[in-house]
Amino acid sequence: KKLIIINGPNLNLLGKRETNIYGSLTFNEFFDTIQEKYKNVNIEYFQSNIEGEIINRLHEAGYGAYDGIVLNAAAYTHTSVGIGDAVKAIETPVVEVHISNTFDREEFRHVSYVSPNAKGVIVGFGLQSYELGIQSFL
Ligand code: DQA
Repeated sequence: KKLIIINGPNLNLLGKRETNIYGSLTFNEFFDTIQEKYKNVNIEYFQSNIEGEIINRLHEAGYGAYDGIVLNAAAYTHTSVGIGDAVKAIETPVVEVHISNTFDREEFRHVSYVSPNAKGVIVGFGLQSYELGIQSFL
């Protein structure tokens, strides 16, 4: 299987950003353990702080190249009609993940433009949310 994890804005700061919420592991540290654990799965990783770059990557990944996309659109989840439309447009199934339980936080995080077009949604399990997302495609 070939999967891609797409991370949105500020997730490059994992490990040093609001560690009480997002933990102290960097994404690369976590990604290494995941690649080690799922050796037979081809897992790629892309991160961008730029909305259009995320949309471009969804388009590139969305037609046949991958079996699944694990998407944490981060703050754009709650604001981006464009990312929501891209998820709807593409053929490759997208599982939406969030590290924190967005429903236990500010009201503006309760809204997602991704969820209605996602295959499923995983929230609140820390970095393990990504692993659950990966497992959902295996
Ligand atoms: C997040 C939750 C979002 O509300 C927030 O803007 C993020 C990270 C999460 O993984 O918990 O940047 O997507």
